[in-house]
Amino acid sequence: MTARLRRMAAGDVPAVIDLERELFPDDAWTLEMFASELGGRSAGRYYLVAEAGGQVVGYAGLMAPVPRQAGRSRPEAGGQADVLTMAVAPSSWGRGIGSALLEALLAQAAEQGCAEVFLEVRADNQRAQRLYRGHGFAEVGLRRGYYQPSGMDAIVMRRPMDPAELSPGPAAPLSPERRL
Ligand SMILES: CC(C)(COP(=O)(O)OP(=O)(O)OC[C@H]1O[C@@H](n2cnc3c(N)ncnc32)[C@H](O)[C@@H]1OP(=O)(O)O)[C@@H](O)C(=O)NCCC(=O)NCCS
Repeated sequence: MTARLRRMAAGDVPAVIDLERELFPDDAWTLEMFASELGGRSAGRYYLVAEAGGQVVGYAGLMAPVPRQAGRSRPEAGGQADVLTMAVAPSSWGRGIGSALLEALLAQAAEQGCAEVFLEVRADNQRAQRLYRGHGFAEVGLRRGYYQPSGMDAIVMRRPMDPAELSPGPAAPLSPERRL
């Protein structure tokens, strides 16, 4: 079944929470956390869902500095973006949805002129690490006992953005309707 990416809306949050609880049972984000992230008080957030057959089958979020030079044709380069979350329903794994979500976040970071993108991933999460390495991320650090209550370490990964990836001119927004 074809999946498409679009911006996450408030109405998606219950379905997102169901996936969140299934995939991150130890430290699932709450409804209030997602509502706050999507609300006006959290600047520079960019959340997407992947939808197939009318169901939310994945989601991802990025925090990137809001371009300061709003009126200019190109945002000032050099900021740091962070991948905040990334998940795909197990029944949809291996179809490229995770890759598409990640690529969409990277495109957004590029559009906002970010020089680098960081993320944290559980040390025992080989699948996600493969996905990130395949998209140019490399390990740059370790946070011991970062995930609670399990005490699992977090691997910190960084992906430098190639200057050629940065938005070359007037905003070329990512199509929110990308099909997979
Ligand atoms: C990690 C996760 C998001 C991947 O989603 P997905 O839709 O299955 O991802 P994809 O189909 O794009 O990628 C699947 C495979 O292709 C690999 N891959 C994708 N793009 C690649 C690339 N450009 N180069 C090399 N390998 C690549 C992945 O590493 C993975 O390999 P595997 O099948 O051998 O394990 C998903 O497994 C998930 O939601 N896991 C639970 C939640 C989670 O761990 N989130 C990440 C928290 S940091």
